[in-house]
Amino acid sequence: MPEKIDYDDKIPNNVNLSGDRRLQRALEGWQPKFLDWWGEMGPTLRTNGVYLRTAVAVGRDGWAHFDHVNVPDYRWGIFLAERDADRRIGFGEHAGEPVWQQVPGEYRADLQRLIVIQGDTEPASVEQQKLLGLTAPSLYDLRNLFQVNVEEGRHLWAMVYLLHAYFGKEGRDEAEGLLLRNSGSPDAPRILGAFNEETADWLAFYMFTYFTDRDGKYQLGTLKESAFDPLSRTCEFMLKEEAHHMFVGTTGVDRVVTRSAQLVRENDTLEIGACGGIPLDVIQKYINFHFTVSLDLFGGETSTNAANYYTAGLKGRWQEGRRKDDHRLTEGGTVLEKPTADGTWTTDEVQTLLALNLDLRGEYIADCRTGVKRWNRILEENGIGFRFSLPHPGFNRAVGLNAGFRVTPDGTIVDEATWAANRRKWLPTTEDLAFVRSLMHPVYERGRIASWVAPPVNGVNDKPFDYEYVYLP
Ligand SMILES: [Fe+2]
Ligand SMILES: [Fe+2]
Repeated sequence: MPEKIDYDDKIPNNVNLSGDRRLQRALEGWQPKFLDWWGEMGPTLRTNGVYLRTAVAVGRDGWAHFDHVNVPDYRWGIFLAERDADRRIGFGEHAGEPVWQQVPGEYRADLQRLIVIQGDTEPASVEQQKLLGLTAPSLYDLRNLFQVNVEEGRHLWAMVYLLHAYFGKEGRDEAEGLLLRNSGSPDAPRILGAFNEETADWLAFYMFTYFTDRDGKYQLGTLKESAFDPLSRTCEFMLKEEAHHMFVGTTGVDRVVTRSAQLVRENDTLEIGACGGIPLDVIQKYINFHFTVSLDLFGGETSTNAANYYTAGLKGRWQEGRRKDDHRLTEGGTVLEKPTADGTWTTDEVQTLLALNLDLRGEYIADCRTGVKRWNRILEENGIGFRFSLPHPGFNRAVGLNAGFRVTPDGTIVDEATWAANRRKWLPTTEDLAFVRSLMHPVYERGRIASWVAPPVNGVNDKPFDYEYVYLP
């Protein structure tokens, strides 16, 4: 397996594509359809070049190369992490056996489904972010948006490669379908709810890259454990790119909070809307919304599908190798909190194997808390008493055992009337969204930044903040 990526091919790759003519032709047939999709559904803003990183090698060091690129000419390619010839299955009924280089017939349908669901989210986020290039708060942010978008496009390539290479005609049909469904489309929407929500403003973009891309990180983490080695290696490399998306989210929200805190201090009021800042309670409402729609992506708390995937070896737990148990989960229980119709919480003990979605969600929530801590530290450093928090996991849920209940951010089960009367305190209102939108104006002079966000602490790849990250016509 060559570690170096072959850029002489029409499709850059490190999977020796030129050694498999049929597959190469099939993917070269899909490529123009991808480019049509990018042209139609990808970023609206036209540029004369964006300072982007492109993968040049998948090894530990120097896998990314930076240069100004004309975006439609970006070299989307197929990159898998290096193969470990001794890798063995880490969990489930096949634990200890060598990993699979081909798809076992009995798991074909399930693996294909997992890959299609993951693949569907990748182009969806590009579609959701289509208009953001028209209102970026700085050239630095505009560049980051394009970086995230081209990498989500590459993640689509990653999944399409697996479908083409291992799933025959059905896989090729599914690869077409990934371009035919569109975010928010009434006729052919994306598969998962959060990917049909519009990312209408830059605060939503930072929240999306913090909360929703982070769900992606955890899903990829479970697929990285897969016994199907090509899927594992694909996800391992995707996780490296995903780390940058998390960075954009974490530092993006940091910068909004920093700017808002500064305006609160300077004006000695929390009502900073009039001075061009985003009030802290509006930021909290955005956290509530993006966190809870992202929780829905983990599916129901208990799931026989997830249990079956685990036992079969298709999808593991987050950091499976570090878990100190039998990696089969045939015994043991997990406590589940459930809302009841009389307005109280009760607990149920379920088999650990059936609660794998809950397990993953728990890891995710713990990770999300670190963000809230960071943002509260910024408030503290500015001497501001306001504190952000994550809402109760039962709040605002459409999936799982909380769906159908009305739960407040602090975890009180309430009736419909109480919910309706308080909803506007907890979730962004039409007025909140319109207000945030009113702040969104493009700031495309080098070194300048919009009123509602602080500049980044560092630029990209050691370049200064006032670097010309994007050439505009
Ligand atoms: Fe992705
Ligand atoms: Fe991402």
